Amino acid sequence: MAPTMHEWDADTNLFAHSVIGYAIERLQLPKDTRWGAQPADELAAVLAPTISADGVGALEALRVFRDTLMPACRPMDSPMNLAYVPTAPSIAATMFDLVVSASSIFGGAWEAGAGAIAAENQAIRWLADLAGFPATAGGVFVSGGSAANLSALVAARHAHEQRHGRPARWAIAATDEVHASVRAAARVMDVDVVGVPTDEFGRLTGAALEQALRDHDGDGVFAVVATGGTTNAGAIDELDAIADVCAARDLWLHVDGAYGLAALCSDIARHQFRGIERADSFGVDPHKWLFAPYDCAALVYRDPAPAAAAHAQHGSYLDHVDRGEWNPSDYAYHLSRRARGLPLWFSLATYGTAAYTEAVDASIRTTRALADDIAARPRFELLLRPELSVLLFTVDGWTREQYLAWSRERARAGVALVVPTSWRGAPCLRLCLVDPRTRLADVTALLDDLAGTSW
Ligand SMILES: Cc1ncc(COP(=O)(O)O)c(C=O)c1O
Repeated sequence: MAPTMHEWDADTNLFAHSVIGYAIERLQLPKDTRWGAQPADELAAVLAPTISADGVGALEALRVFRDTLMPACRPMDSPMNLAYVPTAPSIAATMFDLVVSASSIFGGAWEAGAGAIAAENQAIRWLADLAGFPATAGGVFVSGGSAANLSALVAARHAHEQRHGRPARWAIAATDEVHASVRAAARVMDVDVVGVPTDEFGRLTGAALEQALRDHDGDGVFAVVATGGTTNAGAIDELDAIADVCAARDLWLHVDGAYGLAALCSDIARHQFRGIERADSFGVDPHKWLFAPYDCAALVYRDPAPAAAAHAQHGSYLDHVDRGEWNPSDYAYHLSRRARGLPLWFSLATYGTAAYTEAVDASIRTTRALADDIAARPRFELLLRPELSVLLFTVDGWTREQYLAWSRERARAGVALVVPTSWRGAPCLRLCLVDPRTRLADVTALLDDLAGTSW
């Protein structure tokens, strides 16, 4: 008899253990790091028989996933994935993600998910304390930095409108170094972006912000987006001076720290974020540098009330929801919600916050050692001293095509994933370290390889 979808029998037991077995195997990292995208028609051919009136059964579907689909996905958690912003979820966090999946928690409303939400809020509180936010601060876990930026800006606009009314056009102020998602949020919201030039280190300064706001003709600016660790260069904006400008002009300060604000828990980097305690909201993605699996971003508000005023959904079918405690749905653009902050909570509870400090510090120390190494090599030029764990550098005379060719070749060989970017319009290489298992010796060997490559 075919297994039923909701009843537990011997077959179910077998495949359930197979699924857990696969998860445990995958958590120990693929030995072969040549995994990566495959042509759509090849994947379609393998997938063709899987969805049919009768299905193929769990074990066969799992085999297809394990043997074909998973190897067609890049191992983002490989310690030698130094591209984009990689990920390095802790074992406890990933295992607990399975528990969250098994638990069918509706994380949108207190009355449905109180136990989970209380634990998520404890993790939010840890982040709020690291930032020096008041006891009244609060927030919510959303799917990513993009969602956090959008939801924060919607709250900011609503709050501004309550105080100052509606202008002809709304605008935010941001630099070219803000993450692409900030401009995407502006497009979704149909607001303008007042561009502010960055300094030589790629940072937004208070002086440049003040000047840009003075030059901007017309009002309508309601928020400034600063970055606590830019994606491209790892630069930290001048948060304290920016907060002065925002305070003087009654503008909402949102700090996008999707990547970099993880270093608030670092003993050696925390001081660089002075002024974060004055922000109105910030976002940080535990799926980037706080060792949680995808998809998990924390959005924290200094004062959650305006966010709830902007985001809470109302309808006859929702009116019975008890809003007396904490309803995560009220603090971002969403209603149904996975309790995606729980893996972070479990990981913090498992290892302790000191382990987080040590792991983030480890990446920063490795980055600094690599910066010294790069600066000392004759054919290399270090473009910026790293503030966090991103390195930008050039190889004398190399073109974009040469960087790309080297990068593709090393990815194909499963040695490392490093992709070029550009800095001030010129191509360069970029390394981003978030995994404490990334060994200095391995990256040094990669630099040796790069130095020895001639075209
Ligand atoms: C600074 C910054 N903001 C926002 C994002 C977008 O985050 P997500 O991909 O989680 O939506 C990123 C992603 O790298 C980022 O680095």
